[in-house]
Order: sequence, then structure tokens, then C-alpha cells
Amino acid sequence: MQFTGANILSVGQFNPDAIQRVFTIADQMEPYAHRRKRTKVLEGAILGNLFFEASTRTRVSFGTAFNLLGGEVRETTGMESSAIAKGESLFDTARVLSSYSDIITMRHPKAGSVAEFAEGSRVPVINGGDGANEHPTQALLDLYTIAKELGHHGRKVDGMHICMIGDLKYGRTVHSLSKLLCLYKNVRFTLISPRELAMPDEVLNALTDAGHAFRVTDELVGEMDADIVYQTRIQQERFASLEEASLYRGKFRLNNEIYTRHYKPNTVIMHPLPRDSRAEANELDNDLNQNPNLAIFRQADNGVLIRMALFALTLGVADIVNKYDTDVVWFSNKARY
Ligand code: CP
Repeated sequence: MQFTGANILSVGQFNPDAIQRVFTIADQMEPYAHRRKRTKVLEGAILGNLFFEASTRTRVSFGTAFNLLGGEVRETTGMESSAIAKGESLFDTARVLSSYSDIITMRHPKAGSVAEFAEGSRVPVINGGDGANEHPTQALLDLYTIAKELGHHGRKVDGMHICMIGDLKYGRTVHSLSKLLCLYKNVRFTLISPRELAMPDEVLNALTDAGHAFRVTDELVGEMDADIVYQTRIQQERFASLEEASLYRGKFRLNNEIYTRHYKPNTVIMHPLPRDSRAEANELDNDLNQNPNLAIFRQADNGVLIRMALFALTLGVADIVNKYDTDVVWFSNKARY
């Protein structure tokens, strides 16, 4: 895969070598993310960070990652504060904003919208989530997290058993992660969701083509030898009404008691976040917060490393980052992480 100047729109663009390249560069970003060193390699570069749908982690970590590489960030949030609300097309928006930026990151509620935007852009575009379709940078950070967490226990992605729970129909993170896992060998999937929110056939077909075994169920039953349990949120923003989403909220909760009953003691607990902590949902209980297998915040931290790597690669500076190093002169607790 040729990274320099490329759009990152789908996990389908990646092969095993490309993934390894991203992960190697992500590892090299740790001293900068943890404030042991600074780099100015992207000094003067501008990121256009366009979020037409709600986000905390993806939006802020894209901005943080770009700042950590020395670049500047210009941001627009919400449809209503953009000229798209006046009827401007994605093509025109892309044509204009790409002349103000060196690279653009974008989230939009419509599937395929980021690819449509990229048609009009004169600079690389990175998909930060397009409707229920894909979230490629989340899938990369999820896979990076899985590899690291399993690696601590001497296990590998090849041959692992992953259990995905929740809204597998609208949850774009599980779509992208499942497709990315098709590049690995003998991965077993247990897919737990209400029947109406089952994993789409397109993803199941990809698992079949990859030779992966999967079990689809609407019951959280039985002892499971999962290496990873990946909980997801009911994607209320994709339903026709909040009432309809409420039918499914809280159906598959994971708490310490259920975890202990259903999973082996070192099963890694993941969630792309945000977790819905309202009482009627409480899909991933706070009583797991002290469980060392809860990887959700390490997972979110890894988002900065992966996004730094993607910026460095697409802007062609991945191999010269340390040539622009400077010292960190302020007190930083992060150095202890
Ligand atoms: N995981 C994720 O996409 O989170 P945000 O919606 O906060 O960006």
C-alpha cells in the first residue's frame, strides 16, 4: 500500500504489510504521545477536522495527534454550523476546504459520504466514521489494542476467539474490525445481539470467505473461552426514534458478575466508547473499572498513536519524525505511563 497522499476511507485498503507498517510507526509515536519528547515534523501543516456528527474521542484524538506532530488544527463541528446546512454539496465543501488544509479528517452520518467528499478534495481525507458503514481508524486502533493485550499473555490475533456484543447492525466499529480480522487466520467469532440488530450479511460473508468460524446468537449463555469480549452501544442515532432504540437498550449488560460467570479470568474487555452508562442501558458496568482486563481506556489512548502514525504516513514524514525532536520542558505525569 502506498500511504503518501492516500485517502484512508476503508479497512479494505489494508493488507497485512500495511497494517504492520502502521503499527510499527504507532509504536515509535509513544515517546511523543507520552510527552517524553516533542517533534515539530509537521510544523506549518494544517489539519481540517470536520465532524458533522457527535464525537469525543475520534475528533479530539485526531486533533491531538496532529498537534503532537507539530501541526495546527482547524475544526468544524455539527451540520448546523457548516454551509452544508445551506445546501452546499460535499464536493464543493471538499474543494474549498482542501485548499485551506494539508489533510482532512471527517465524520458524517451518511454511509459513503466521506468517500464522496474525498472525490472533491485536493488533499488526503481520512474517514472518522461514515454512518453505519465504516470507522477504519477505530478498527486499526482496536486491532493494535488486541495485539498488544493478547501479546502480554503470549497470545496472538491468529486463532483467537472474539465475542462481539450489542448493536452489531448499526455499530460501524464492529463492521470495520471484523473485516480487518479477515486478514488473519482462524479467528473465531461469537456474535451476540438482539435478532433485529444482528451483524449484516455482508460482514458474515466476508468472515466465511476468510475461513473464519462464527456463531450468531441472541442469548448471552454458556461458558465462553473468548480471548476478547468487545461490547458495543445501541446506536440510538441510527434508529427511526428513541423509543425504538429503547427496546434494545440494556439487553446485554456486562458487569463483574456476568463477566466472572461467562468468561475466563484473563479475557480482555473492550468497547469503542462511549459506553452508555445511563441506568436503562449500563452496558459496561462501572464495577469492572478496577478489573485489570478492562482495556477500554488503553484502547482509547492507543487511538492517538494510530492516528499519529496515519498522519505521518499519509504526509510522507514517518521516517523523519525524530529529526525534528525537541525537549519537553514542562512537568508531565504522562512520562510515567
Ligand atoms: N469510538 C468513537 O468513535 O468515539 P467517539 O464517537 O467519541 O469519537
